[in-house]
Amino acid sequence: MEIFYEIAPLKKKLAALKLQNKTIGFVATMGALHQGHISLVEKSNKENDFTVVSIFVNPTQFNNKEDLEKYPRNLEADFRLLEDNECDMVFAPAVAEMYPEEDTRKFELGDVAQVMEGKYRPGHFNGVCLIVSKLLDIVNPDNAYFGQKDYQQIAVIRAMVKKYMHGFKGNIVSCPIVREKDGLALSSRNSHLDEGQRKSAVIISQTLFKAKELSDKGATCKEIEEFIKKSIATDANLCLEYVEIADKDTLLTIKESKPKNAVICITVYDGKTRLIDNILL
Ligand code: PAJ
Repeated sequence: MEIFYEIAPLKKKLAALKLQNKTIGFVATMGALHQGHISLVEKSNKENDFTVVSIFVNPTQFNNKEDLEKYPRNLEADFRLLEDNECDMVFAPAVAEMYPEEDTRKFELGDVAQVMEGKYRPGHFNGVCLIVSKLLDIVNPDNAYFGQKDYQQIAVIRAMVKKYMHGFKGNIVSCPIVREKDGLALSSRNSHLDEGQRKSAVIISQTLFKAKELSDKGATCKEIEEFIKKSIATDANLCLEYVEIADKDTLLTIKESKPKNAVICITVYDGKTRLIDNILL
């Protein structure tokens, strides 16, 4: 596994591989890697000749300074895990390498970036678009892999590529959520949870699974939402920020009485830790 800290040598290496008609898969991450990230690496390895993983805690997507400072970082452990999982190249740049000067681009993507996370984390998706556009530009992969754990993020990235990256010909590939045995979606932020909060966290996914059952039995959006609010409120550690039953493509709130082609997206504070999850109906 080769480790790159700078753009130029990585691009040189990738150009040589492309000359040999090798295909490149790409996984963007902020590190503190877990099996959710590794599932993307595995899929990339299966579908491409070479896999590049980036590790970069992107300051522009954090709208909360404390969250950025607290974000778990463990490069050495990440490198080991990637090496064990047959990653070919890691790109772990410093902030100055990715942002030699302030990047003032504004991405206008309409509703898909303004609802839900867009509303509760202003500026977050603009920061995601800043970094993902740079990374896709540098790596220019045949396939770029993103997890459905961040459901809205994939929709935003697709919209950004379509509107702003006409030269990019690769595929944006969406991959299923990897969960713990008890259902909790794997997340780097789970490491912030203490024992009690970890127990509470399971209620989030269990609530979504039950919500899907209710939907399968014909419940209305209103009934499903009420069930979710009640279920989250049963635990003293948990505080619901929002729940949305939205169209799975536009991410707009479903207006019809029963969900159709829908995704439920939920954000819950577990103590001070903000956890997100979702389920397709
Ligand atoms: P990060 O949270 O590190 O996630 C990197 C990728 O791993 C994302 O595509 C995310 O959806 C995926 N992922 C995380 N947990 C997962 C799980 N439990 N199951 C499946 N996939 C999972 O998302 C980001 O970083 C950043 O916003 C980034 C795209 C790298 C831009 O900075």
